[in-house]
Amino acid sequence: WTATRDKSCKLPMPKGSMGFPIIGETCHWFFQGAGFHASRRQKYGNVFKTHLLGRPLIRVTGAENVRKVLMGEHSLVTVDWPQSTSTLLGPNSLANSIGDIHRKRRKIFAKVFSHEALESYLPKIQQVIQETLRVWSSNPDPINVYRESQRLSFHMAVRVLLGFRVSEEEMHCLFHTFQDFVENVFSLPIDLPFSGYRKGIRARDSLQKSIEKAIREKPLHTQGKDYTDALDVLLESAKENNTELTMQELKESTIELIFAAFATTASASTSLIMQLLRHPAVLEKLREELRNCGLLHDGCLCQGELRLDSIISLKYLDCVIKEVLRLFAPVSGGYRIATQTFELDGVQVPKGWSVMYSIRDTHDTSAVFKDVEAFDPDRFSPERSEDREGRFHYLPFGGGVRSCLGKQLATLFLKLLAVELAGGSRFELATRTFPRLISVPVVHPTDGLRVKFFGLD
Ligand code: HEM
Repeated sequence: WTATRDKSCKLPMPKGSMGFPIIGETCHWFFQGAGFHASRRQKYGNVFKTHLLGRPLIRVTGAENVRKVLMGEHSLVTVDWPQSTSTLLGPNSLANSIGDIHRKRRKIFAKVFSHEALESYLPKIQQVIQETLRVWSSNPDPINVYRESQRLSFHMAVRVLLGFRVSEEEMHCLFHTFQDFVENVFSLPIDLPFSGYRKGIRARDSLQKSIEKAIREKPLHTQGKDYTDALDVLLESAKENNTELTMQELKESTIELIFAAFATTASASTSLIMQLLRHPAVLEKLREELRNCGLLHDGCLCQGELRLDSIISLKYLDCVIKEVLRLFAPVSGGYRIATQTFELDGVQVPKGWSVMYSIRDTHDTSAVFKDVEAFDPDRFSPERSEDREGRFHYLPFGGGVRSCLGKQLATLFLKLLAVELAGGSRFELATRTFPRLISVPVVHPTDGLRVKFFGLD
């Protein structure tokens, strides 16, 4: 299982351990979470080798190293997800496309996240968030925030983005199948009964069947600019680019969009709620900003329709969301493969090796952030703008040609959630202490974060 060095290159291989045969260090990774990468980085440096999910891997941290990997797409590296992820997302997904095909697919998808499209989703996203917070507040028991945030982001993706009209019961089934899918997207590629990989394949097949049914039953609105959901925009955009999407492409794109939105947004929502609980002064400053902009009156949010531009104009809110995504970046990094041997931090990355660039470790070790472990939204204020000091020090949404397509949508969702929380809810931690965090597959609290919501008095 040990991939070899490039003998024609004089540079040494990165330091590191390859763990046990076949499984490598996968078990250490699952159990140690974020600590796994941090401990190895401290021991071996910013570029180290390991063996995860069935293959050798070079893990890369630090803005300059990450810049080289992300800007080297096509020349030094190309995309290379673990086999389980690649199989479960399918050959037509963006994640699995490269070169011109990737560029073309991205162009089609881009319209789904345009300013105009986001404006049309906004009232529906707001409505889904308000309904969810009402349900949380009416529950006499504490809420498991991470689990319920998953439900909220799934709801947003299925009802708002895709416009599927499914019953509550169907939604419940879809949600559980989707959880099985997500839990096994990063699994050892061993196709045996009861293996995670087999469970993931079964979940994918079942999802594709339900999605095909929902797409066939869905009324499509692709006339003019009066979009109702992202699926309509996607179909219209494909038409404008002279492409017909096949049913298989639509099913894979749909699953990819929900997958990309689901765990990431739930993780960020949970981290946001946790930080607002930990830092009442930040919550109060958010309320003050809402009051100053006329959005909050006598402790109540103004009921008028919120516009995208008014959300974008809330500067402190922007800082809060940025800081949550810096300190608790939901995605720990991205996978690539070296298409030629190249140098990184004085060591060789041999052709054919998998490379994982690191987001969270890069944030955690970046010298541009003062008091790097502190939750300090003002570091993103116009006066300080610490993120402007270097392009690849802050990258919760990745960078380069494969950066997150849903970045604006995710940010909008988190901002709307923060506005509703600051303006229309009271909430308290229901445990004595804050829970520990784990980072696989995305950052989340071990107990899900137990919070009692009260709504407004
Ligand atoms: C890619 C983060 C939400 C759609 C990515 C990547 C990151 C990321 C780091 C790049 C991975 C790489 O370099 O390989 C996040 C975070 C989110 C979020 C932190 C929430 C806080 C969303 C949402 C959507 C979305 C809501 C869409 C509904 C995508 C897509 C890609 C992507 C389609 C693949 C782009 C490509 O391969 O060209 N995301 N994401 N993401 N994201 Fe997001």
